[in-house]
Amino acid sequence: MSVLKNLKTSINTERLPRHIAIIMDGNGRWAKQQSKLRVFGHQGGVEAVRDTVEGAAEMGIKYLTLYAFSTENWNRPKLEIDALMELLVNTINKETRTLMDNDIRLQAIGNIESLPKKCKRNLEEAINKTANNKRMTLVLALSYSSKWEIIEAVKKIAEKVEKQKLQIRDINEEIFNSCLSTHNIPNPELLIRTSGEHRISNFLLWQIAYSELYFTDVLWPDFRREHLNDAIVNYQNRERRFGKTSEQIEKENA
Ligand code: FPP
Repeated sequence: MSVLKNLKTSINTERLPRHIAIIMDGNGRWAKQQSKLRVFGHQGGVEAVRDTVEGAAEMGIKYLTLYAFSTENWNRPKLEIDALMELLVNTINKETRTLMDNDIRLQAIGNIESLPKKCKRNLEEAINKTANNKRMTLVLALSYSSKWEIIEAVKKIAEKVEKQKLQIRDINEEIFNSCLSTHNIPNPELLIRTSGEHRISNFLLWQIAYSELYFTDVLWPDFRREHLNDAIVNYQNRERRFGKTSEQIEKENA
């Protein structure tokens, strides 16, 4: 009972996660429920992206990362990949103005070189245009997978060693971090996955070492800022111990 009594039901704006990462899942099932094609689900997903991004910025979240297209998604039918890429280009073009109006900076992580030329060009334009915005950073994970990113980091480190710019004994967490595509982004305190699946699916494996995980049954196209709010409240009711004891944490917070 005392636990229930102490549970917070609204957000404490002083203890917001600085970085929230989201695995947007369930577009296909949402479309299927309505006997529509999968691409209809992705279009619905854009509405959820819009509301979540705006809501996160208004709440004071500093970094929001969205898993928009994984390395493994290249294995989907060509028709769906093409539709997703077109949706991405159109959304980026249409929403750059909104990003500017809301002071949101756009960044991307992943194998951007592997994206279709038009997609890459539009993405880079939007990134450059919004580069000086300060309120929130929106990170799109595109053609991204964590194993790919980690292997890229290993290659960069091996190259430094080969060129004698780095000694093997000096390799540490900090150096490894600096070789990841997220080197200028803090680790997410909270990772959300929609659609009732309880998997990480090759997303930010290194960066979520101490993240709180939140799973919701809501399908991504139905996800709105209210759901983000629920996830943050749930996060704020958890005790983050980083390997320490409850007593130590209580003392630190006293
Ligand atoms: C997962 O649902 C969703 C994706 C693979 C794509 C996400 C893309 C969007 C929300 C649209 C564009 C995004 C931006 C940032 C503009 P799924 O297709 O795997 O659904 P299922 O598991 O129900 O089949």
